[in-house]
Amino acid sequence: MDTLIAPQPAAPEPRPPRRPGRGPLIALVAILGLIALAGGWALARASTAPRPLTDPTPVAAPQSGIAGAVGVRSAGAHLEALQRVADQNGGNRAAGTPGYAASVEYVVGVLRAAGWDVRTEPFQLGGASHHDDTDHDDTDRDDTDRDEERRAGRTDVNVIAQTRTGDPNRVVLAGAHLDSVAEGPGINDNATGVAALLDIATALGGAPDVPNALRFAFWGGEEDGMIGSSAYVEGLSRAERKTVRAYVNLDMLASTNGGYFVQGGVGDDEEESGPAASAEIAKLLVEQLRVAGVEAENVEFDGGSDFVPFAEAGIPTAGVAAGDGQRKSRADAARWGGEAGEVHDPCYHRACDTLANVDPTKFEAFTDAVAATLVRLATG
Ligand code: PHE
Ligand code: ZN
Ligand code: ZN
Repeated sequence: MDTLIAPQPAAPEPRPPRRPGRGPLIALVAILGLIALAGGWALARASTAPRPLTDPTPVAAPQSGIAGAVGVRSAGAHLEALQRVADQNGGNRAAGTPGYAASVEYVVGVLRAAGWDVRTEPFQLGGASHHDDTDHDDTDRDDTDRDEERRAGRTDVNVIAQTRTGDPNRVVLAGAHLDSVAEGPGINDNATGVAALLDIATALGGAPDVPNALRFAFWGGEEDGMIGSSAYVEGLSRAERKTVRAYVNLDMLASTNGGYFVQGGVGDDEEESGPAASAEIAKLLVEQLRVAGVEAENVEFDGGSDFVPFAEAGIPTAGVAAGDGQRKSRADAARWGGEAGEVHDPCYHRACDTLANVDPTKFEAFTDAVAATLVRLATG
């Protein structure tokens, strides 16, 4: 198998970590997008410009007017918009509900305004689910029954957006699930992944000057067992699967007691590591997180998220995450701060997964690192 990216010279000097903000969180979240976007954009350009073995052309299209675009279309604004969607729709954005439909509408609008080619692709929500063996806490019988009712016979959609430039036979795919659990608004899980991708899509514009096409996916039905992403992969022909060079997954980027995890590319077997070239994607993400000022931990795939169907189909994949319901280790607390023995996200799958459940420092570092990684993959 050929490598995903061209060899590159030594990694750039890391910049020092930014200090976490101290002001009111909402205000921080509101200005965060501007910082993250400016940083991500600078990084994206820096990652291509000095490397002779990659396309020397900077990602030129959005350079004009980018500063103006950032202020209104910041990552923080996307988080706020999805919080509002939940508030106006019974407190959640779960698959098969009006809150999910409104989330779809929001994402489609942002992507179209950014100049991307956008479509919605229906799938059976109540159809054969992939595995549902994740740490979903379905202890309440009534809730489970209600969930079944909500799903039965319904269709839902994935949102799929693609750039208008770049080789469509060499696709760099990134995705984040757009649904929440029924118990809450799902802002860390996973409006953060969605907002990061919307921010990056807006910064790049629909026609970036890179050799490969970029495709962003917003999955439905993840919380019900990765239904949307599984349907998508199953719907690809053998030939179409080969055109997807890499899949980067974003799920929970701002866990308040979390860390910097890059999933994939390591482990004893393919189930843990994913297909061989997954290691290249994971290494890029770790490298770009270092550039963003943090030391990430590269871990094996564990638990369910939308990388699973891709790994099973032999498509190289890696993910970023700040952590879910697992407890923080002493070693992780020592290097990243936070409380050892407490869960990474205290509001995981709960009603309190709101705007107040977002750590802007982590969110910014992940957004910057993913932006630079995607540009690098699209250039190689
Ligand atoms: N997918 C899980 C959820 O949405 C959490 C998770 C994130 C698991 C990242 C693995 C990797 O609840
Ligand atoms: Zn979840
Ligand atoms: Zn999730």
